[in-house]
Amino acid sequence: GKFRVLVTKNLPGEDWLKVLTSAGAQVDICTAKQTILDNASITKLVGDKCDGVIGQLTEDWSDELFGVLKAAGGKVYSNYAVGFNNIVLEDATKHGIAVGNTPGVLTETTAELAAALTLAASRRLLEAEKFMRGGKYEGFLPNLFVGKLLQGKTVGVVGPGRIGFAYAKMMVEGHKMNILYNSHEPQPEIADYFNKYSDFLESQGGTRVTARQVELEELLQNSDVVSLHCALTPETRHLINKERLGMMKPDAILVNAARGPNVDEKALVAHLQANPGFSAGLDVYEDEPAMAPGLAECSNAVLMPHIASATLWTRSGMAKLAACNVAGVLRGYPALKSAGDVLQFVDADPGSVP
Ligand code: GLV
Ligand code: GLV
Repeated sequence: GKFRVLVTKNLPGEDWLKVLTSAGAQVDICTAKQTILDNASITKLVGDKCDGVIGQLTEDWSDELFGVLKAAGGKVYSNYAVGFNNIVLEDATKHGIAVGNTPGVLTETTAELAAALTLAASRRLLEAEKFMRGGKYEGFLPNLFVGKLLQGKTVGVVGPGRIGFAYAKMMVEGHKMNILYNSHEPQPEIADYFNKYSDFLESQGGTRVTARQVELEELLQNSDVVSLHCALTPETRHLINKERLGMMKPDAILVNAARGPNVDEKALVAHLQANPGFSAGLDVYEDEPAMAPGLAECSNAVLMPHIASATLWTRSGMAKLAACNVAGVLRGYPALKSAGDVLQFVDADPGSVP
């Protein structure tokens, strides 16, 4: 191959490999047993010559690794993720490495997992399942695993980007929930969408739903479900802390399928312990793969191992996008705005989800 591309974890599907090989790349896929590769292992894998890397969100792509990649003649790094809080873009820019991520193809899949967490938490599905498998079921009882109805309640979406908006549609259209959302930017298209949806509901003899952009405090105080869909930045780290948990309804549901550090996990455990009526649905953790002490024992928490984007359609789409990011730069196009820009060569239209 003209280029050597390192892929730090094998990826699903086959298209991605074709994208790289047809761009003239020799592809080296790391098959190491350990789940998370440290900098020393990645440095070894990069070796003397490496033109591009597809890496994972568990890796620390900052000055050290970008320096190593640069020294091996590298030009491009693509994260196999939409989130890029594991990348220090300034360091990539400093070393002249272009950076890509995989937006678009995981919008609906991630929103569906957030919806699944919401339903699993509201209906205590995992608790009840454990009871069933434990052979404890002795017959129907009026008080067995009584949960929370979503229909007509209020859902608060923090960070209504692509994923948050898709989740909001699922909750509003599926459960006729009212929606509060919080964002730095005005989001007129969200209000417009739900206004039109309300017109439709009304035309069918139904009741309108409301959709309002509000401050975080108002959202937390008034939502029955709060779902986080914001990127992890210095501003969103511990966005949900002890004080803000205290603002929420005592029987609210908190869903996080974004990034763990958005929540102060120790404070959440204390809150779950003190408020048995409060529930959480979590796909991400502050210090993955660890969980805060006590979390695993909280029966009012639904705990998933960072699988929000895990459908075959999405995971193979992410692989193809990551490969396109790398192949595009190696073949010299399209021109970057500046080295280190987050590239979106193919921002798949979420409307094209099969
Ligand atoms: C997964 O967490 C992603 O950012 O794609
Ligand atoms: C990610 O795709 C987002 O902007 O929500």
